[in-house]
Parts: sequence; structure tokens; C-alpha cells
Amino acid sequence: MRRALLFGGSGQIGRSLLARLQAERWQVWAASRQAREALPGVTWLPGDLGAPEAMAYLPAAVDAIFSLGPLDGFAQWYARAGVTAPRVIAFGSTSLQVKQDSADGHERELAARLRQGEATVFATAGSRDAAATLLRPTLVYGAGRDQTLSRIAALAARSGVFVLPRGATGLRQPVHVDDLAAAALAVVDAPASHGQAYALPGGETLAYREMVARTLAALRPPARLLELPAPLFGAAVRVARWSGRLQGLGDAAVARMRQDLVFDAGPAWRDFGYAPRAFAPSAEMLGQ
Ligand SMILES: NC(=O)c1ccc[n+]([C@@H]2O[C@H](COP(=O)([O-])OP(=O)(O)OC[C@H]3O[C@@H](n4cnc5c(N)ncnc54)[C@H](OP(=O)(O)O)[C@@H]3O)[C@@H](O)[C@H]2O)c1
Repeated sequence: MRRALLFGGSGQIGRSLLARLQAERWQVWAASRQAREALPGVTWLPGDLGAPEAMAYLPAAVDAIFSLGPLDGFAQWYARAGVTAPRVIAFGSTSLQVKQDSADGHERELAARLRQGEATVFATAGSRDAAATLLRPTLVYGAGRDQTLSRIAALAARSGVFVLPRGATGLRQPVHVDDLAAAALAVVDAPASHGQAYALPGGETLAYREMVARTLAALRPPARLLELPAPLFGAAVRVARWSGRLQGLGDAAVARMRQDLVFDAGPAWRDFGYAPRAFAPSAEMLGQ
């Protein structure tokens, strides 16, 4: 029986990976900051990557360590940890590339943290004769808990309408959480993936407005997409922010709706057979 140590097992991608590890009869130690319900083959451990000195009861050796939590915290923990593992699979994000030159300082900081986290994981693995693989998803959906499409779905379900600026035609590749979980498991036995970082886009490339239109069409009843001239949309966003009804949609994020964020799935397909699904969301996948 293979053994895994998992960080982020309670998260949207982590839940799918946990189910796959259980189905393949791995013995799993899963760290969480909260008490979690018991699952067959899974031992939950108290574990906060922000307070690694308090982490206890970790196994001394496992076949693989999976990180689906914050990459910077994991990288720092791994650099100091005594757990031995020949394979380390950690999730980063395509934000590393998308946000490195952002006009928003917080976004540039995030990109720098992701880059540093990846470098630390690779360096630590190298010094321990372990092989690390970094996985960078694009925009994630599927578990009804993501911050983009599920949020749009929740807002639209309440009002029956969702507003976008005209010209939101930047290309996107939404990726389903379970395709990411499958990828994390597939790389374990893929030697070509040792020491590599992969973009993991979804199986379809479509315009931002089309992605939102399909999201709204999946609702019961479907919601309507309203496209406003960009200056009018900008004014509406400023009013919504000022009144406290809108958070998390910065100017950089609005500008990116016109920008193509496209990544090549070819290397992941070649090295571990990555074949993500097309974008066909259901109300359940969007938390509705
Ligand atoms: N969602 C996206 O659109 C997206 C896009 C690109 C990349 N990613 C990356 O993919 C990975 C998984 O993302 P996700 O969306 O599935 O995550 P999520 O649903 O937001 O869940 C976060 C997970 O991280 C764990 N976690 C957070 N802080 C922690 C800490 N201090 N110590 C230990 N565990 C901690 C949480 O565990 P507990 O709450 O149980 O402690 C939870 O299981 C992350 O590395 C994320 O950056 C996500």
C-alpha cells in the first residue's frame, strides 16, 4: 500500500485528490488547521503551514507528499521538514506568469511569492535526492467553491442578471478540479515530470464573455448577460465598490477581461497524458 502526506486535502482540488487516493487504496495522512470528519484510509492531522513547529504526528517516510495549500507556506515547511519522500507534487498557479508584470503591486507580490515558492521546493527536493513536480492550474471551477465562476453564479442567481463590460473577449481556459486531481496522481509515476513545472489549462479555450454566458446558462433558471459600454461598466463598478457591495474586482482584473490568458497543455499531455475536459458547467459544479 502506498503512503501519502497531503496538505490542502479539504480544499476544492484536494477533496477530489483525496477521493482518488482512497479509490487507489493509498494510505493518507492529511494535514488540516481544523478537525475533519474521519474517512476510510485517511488520518487527519493538525497542521498549519504558518506554524510548522506545532505540527505533530507526521509519518517519518511516505511515497509522495502532495501540496494543495499555499505554496509559500509549503515551501518553507518542506525546507525544514524531516519527512522523507522520493516524490513531491505541489500546486502553484499560472498567476506566476500572468501577474508578474501587473499594474497592481499586490498581484506582483503574489507572482514573486509563487516563483520563490517553486524555486525553494525544487532546491529542497534536489538536496534530498527527491523529485519534485510543480503544477500550475489556470482558472479553477467544478467544486462550487471557486472565487470566480461560482461567485458569478451566486451573484447572478440572486439577481437573474450579470453585467460585463463590452469587449470582454480575452481568452480563458477554465479547468475542472477533478482533472487537476487526476493530473496530480498521474505525475507520481511519470519520470519525465521530475524537476518540471507544468501549466494545467482546461480542455477548451473560449472568450471571457462566452465563459460567463455558459455559466449563466447553467443556472436554474438561467440568468441573463448584460453587456455595458466599458466607461458605464467602470462607473458601475466604482459605485458598487464605494457602497461595499463589491469586493475583489480590482482595475487590473477588469483590464484582464480583454487580455488572452492562454497556456499550452502539450507538455503535460506528452509527459503524463493530461487530457482535461471541455467547459460544460452544471449548476452543481457552480455551487447552485
Ligand atoms: N482556485 C484556483 O482558481 C487556483 C488557481 C490556480 C492555482 N491554485 C492552487 O491550487 C492549490 C489548491 O487550490 P484550491 O482552490 O483547491 O484551494 P482551496 O479550496 O482554497 O483550499 C485551500 C486548502 O489549503 C489549506 N490551507 C490553507 N492555509 C493553510 C495553512 N496555513 N496550513 C495548512 N493548510 C492550509 C486548507 O486546509 P484547511 O482549511 O483544512 O487547513 C485547504 O485545504 C493551491 O495551491 C492554489 O494556490 C488554485
